Amino acid sequence: MGMNPNVQVIIGRLKLKNPVLVASGTFGYAQEFTHFIDLKKLGAIVTKTITLHPRKGNPAPRTCETPAGMLNSIGLENPGLEVFIQEKLPFLKKIGVPIIISIASEEDPEEFIVLVKRLTKIKEASAIELNISCPNIGHKSLIAQDSKAAYNLIRAVRKVTTKTLITKLSPNVTDITEAALAAQNAGSDAISLINTLTGMSIDVETKKPRLSTITGGLSGPAIRPIAVRMVWEVYQKIKIPIIGMGGIIDTFSALEFFLAGATAIAIGSANFVQPRITIEIIAGLKKYLAENKIKDIRVLVGALKV
Ligand SMILES: Cc1cc2nc3c(=O)[nH]c(=O)nc-3n(C[C@H](O)[C@H](O)[C@H](O)COP(=O)(O)O)c2cc1C
Repeated sequence: MGMNPNVQVIIGRLKLKNPVLVASGTFGYAQEFTHFIDLKKLGAIVTKTITLHPRKGNPAPRTCETPAGMLNSIGLENPGLEVFIQEKLPFLKKIGVPIIISIASEEDPEEFIVLVKRLTKIKEASAIELNISCPNIGHKSLIAQDSKAAYNLIRAVRKVTTKTLITKLSPNVTDITEAALAAQNAGSDAISLINTLTGMSIDVETKKPRLSTITGGLSGPAIRPIAVRMVWEVYQKIKIPIIGMGGIIDTFSALEFFLAGATAIAIGSANFVQPRITIEIIAGLKKYLAENKIKDIRVLVGALKV
C-alpha cells in the first residue's frame, strides 16, 4: 500500500495527531483505561466535567439500559477543581496527548470564570470545554438552551483566557444552529455536539422510574441520527470546527460525522461496552482513507453529497 494518509486536524490552537477523542464523562480521568489501551494513541482526552466544588452526584440508580443506548443521571459527580488539579492532573500530564478539561457551574455561571482563570495558569490544560449542556443537576433550564445567556457567558470567559475554548451544546433545543452561532460569535474556538437527550424509562412491575431522578440523558446508537442531523445543520451555518459525537460505535458511524461536517469525533458510551473502541476506530479511519486513496481526512469533512 505505502500510502500514509494525513489524519492530523486542528481545533483552535490545538494540533491533534488524529481526530479521535473520548467524550467527557465516559472515560473518567483516563487512569481507568490504562489497562485497556495505549492512551498515547488518542487524539485528545476530554476529562469528566469538573465543578468548582466537589459534588457527590445523584443517588442510585443513576444509569439504565435502553434499546440501542442508555440513560444516565450521574449529576456531575466529581472531586472539584483543586482535588482534580492535585490528584488527577499529574497522571493526565504524563500521557503526552492534549488534555481538554471539561468544566461546568453548579448554581452561579460566575463559577465558570473562576474555573477558567485557574485553568489558564496550568500549562497542561491544553484546552477547556464549557459544558453548558449538562441536564442532570436539577436546573429547570440549561445555559445552552438560552442563546443570549450562552453568548454572554462565553464572551465573559473569552476575555479571561487565551486557551482554546470548546463549547458543548445541548440537543434539547428546537434550533441547534442558534446556540452554535451564539457560541461562535462569542469567541468559542470550536463546538462539541451533542450532549445527551432527555429521556425516561419505567419499570412496569414496580411502576417506578428506572432512574432516581426520573428523567436522565439518553446516549448511544439510539441518538446517532439526531446527532448527525445536528452536525450537518450546524456545519452549514458556522466556520469554527465541530467535534461530533452521539452513538459512534465503529469506523462507519464515525465516518458519518465527518461527512456531515465534523472535523473531529468523540466516543462516549461505546467506551463502556468496548474499552478498546477508540484505538480500533483510529486504525479503521486510516485504513478507510488508504483503501479509498484519500490523502487527507479533511477532504471528508462536510463531503456529504446532496
Ligand atoms: C455515563 C455518562 C456520563 C456523562 N458525563 C458527562 C459529563 O460529565 N460532561 C459532559 O459534557 N458530557 C457527559 N456525558 C455525555 C457524553 O460526553 C456524550 O456527549 C454523549 O453521551 C453522547 O455520546 P455517546 O452516544 O457516544 O455516548 C456523559 C455521558 C454518559 C453516558
